[in-house]
Amino acid sequence: MATNAKIELLRKLKAQAQLGGGQERIDAQHAKGKLTARERIQALLDKGSFREIDMFVTHRTTDFNMADKKFLSDSVVTGYGTIDGRLVYVFSQDFTVFGGSLGEVHSEKICKIMDMAVQNGAPLIGINDSGGARIQEGVVSLGGYADIFLRNTLASGVIPQISAIMGPCAGGAVYSPALTDFIIMVKKSSHMFITGPDVIKAVTREEVSFEDLGGADTHSSKSGVCHLVADDGEEALEMVRTMVSYMPSNNMEDPPFVDSGDDPCRQEDRLNEIIPDDPGKPYDMKEVIHLIVDNGDFFEIQENYARNIIIGFARFGGFSVGIVANQPAILAGVLDINASVKSARFVRFCDAFNIPLLILQDVPGFLPGVDQEHNGIIIHGAKLLYSLCEATVPKITVITRKSYGGAYCVLNSKHIRGDANFAWPSAEIAVMGPEGAVNIIFRKEIGEAEDGAAKRVELIQLYKDKFANPYCAAARGYIDDVIEPSETRSRIIDCLKMLQNKRASNPPKKHGNIPL
Ligand code: HXC
Repeated sequence: MATNAKIELLRKLKAQAQLGGGQERIDAQHAKGKLTARERIQALLDKGSFREIDMFVTHRTTDFNMADKKFLSDSVVTGYGTIDGRLVYVFSQDFTVFGGSLGEVHSEKICKIMDMAVQNGAPLIGINDSGGARIQEGVVSLGGYADIFLRNTLASGVIPQISAIMGPCAGGAVYSPALTDFIIMVKKSSHMFITGPDVIKAVTREEVSFEDLGGADTHSSKSGVCHLVADDGEEALEMVRTMVSYMPSNNMEDPPFVDSGDDPCRQEDRLNEIIPDDPGKPYDMKEVIHLIVDNGDFFEIQENYARNIIIGFARFGGFSVGIVANQPAILAGVLDINASVKSARFVRFCDAFNIPLLILQDVPGFLPGVDQEHNGIIIHGAKLLYSLCEATVPKITVITRKSYGGAYCVLNSKHIRGDANFAWPSAEIAVMGPEGAVNIIFRKEIGEAEDGAAKRVELIQLYKDKFANPYCAAARGYIDDVIEPSETRSRIIDCLKMLQNKRASNPPKKHGNIPL
């Protein structure tokens, strides 16, 4: 064959690969309002940066007449490219080829780029749209999944791993995304479940739709499996780009510094009046966050799950920071099981990837209740405690109002290696709130008083004067400084600079035993 003809053949094969399972199936994908695997990669990466690997791979199965049905690239497109000029690896399952199902070579292709991502220290982004294990390949498919699960686990804490679920993701297949750091789902078009509605009906007689069982709304508000919800595929991929911008490429790097142009010394007088005079009244911690971060940009994660705690990424003076904040506007910002688990996992991500932590604290304590106790608030609350104890990244705490009981210790107190602990003048740092405390320690005095109610009010005031302030803690050095709310932003940025070269480590060990 002449050279020109050989080049023609190459071009023909590459053009053929672009069509995946064929134009008809591409049209069907579009008719469902979904992008194809390759369109998704184009939307995700910087224009023209994608380099595909293993385009010529086809499956090796011969059973069920499969030898006659081969598609270049098989059912997953893999390779690398850049996001904002930074290297990332990506796989995108191609639903137009055998429903994106995972067989031997599909798994081999994913494993190959996972190994490259770890070796070269760059994030891995998985775009999932698959009918699950390729039925024609039997146990080989299961082995392929397990090969991926192992790599997800070994890569955890070494490179960031993000999963975008853009279609079905069912059965054991869900465990690859579950092992990654963040899961993004698309409203109405992505579904995740271990067993589908039919199996559930047969086993438990419960009737449930795909959407109610494993849609984006369910997993973002009820199960907590999903971290971000997008209205469509493009938005999901834009979210991945934004998320990556806050992260380092691997655990040996610092997150990128992005000069936001926002004045590091910006004072916010509104903060001086944000705390209501009545300590029982709520305010919106998100307003505090928006006022102190660069340009008001806060990338919130798990917004609709355990809303009594807020987590997400922002920048302060260009430094990437992970924020964990109690939300007094929801359940008074109390810590419960879901809030503890949600925030603990986030803290561990930030610590693994050198992202400093800011804790904004207004917490009345852990949620009392039989349900909470019986469902293990002890063990789940300990997750948050453990994660903050072991974290060695710069850790800054600002107590805006309540800091009571165990929650004081747990939420990055000085005692568990808080680097900079500030309180606003409105802070109340004590074993418990004034009402509860007075009922216990002055029960006798109140009972014996002529006017018990008046005595109680008097004693509550006495307790408030003594304990419901930041100065007892500050007198012991548990609080480094009591600051004016308006100067919060500049003080945080100062600390981030001061802590830039922080060195801290934990005792050598195989791994700890976080209370799971
Ligand atoms: C091989 C598959 C497939 C699979 C779909 N296809 N799933 N091929 N193995 N698992 C093929 C179909 O034959 C069809 O081929 C094409 O993909 C599109 O499928 P449709 O059914 O036409 O599409 P749609 O109506 O959109 O339905 C999508 C679907 C459905 C909901 C995903 O296909 C489905 O239920 N598939 C089976 C899901 C499943 O049970 N998977 C195994 C789960 S167990 P043609 O040639 O017609 O285009 C599992 C274990 C993993 O995954 C364990 C890991 C440890």
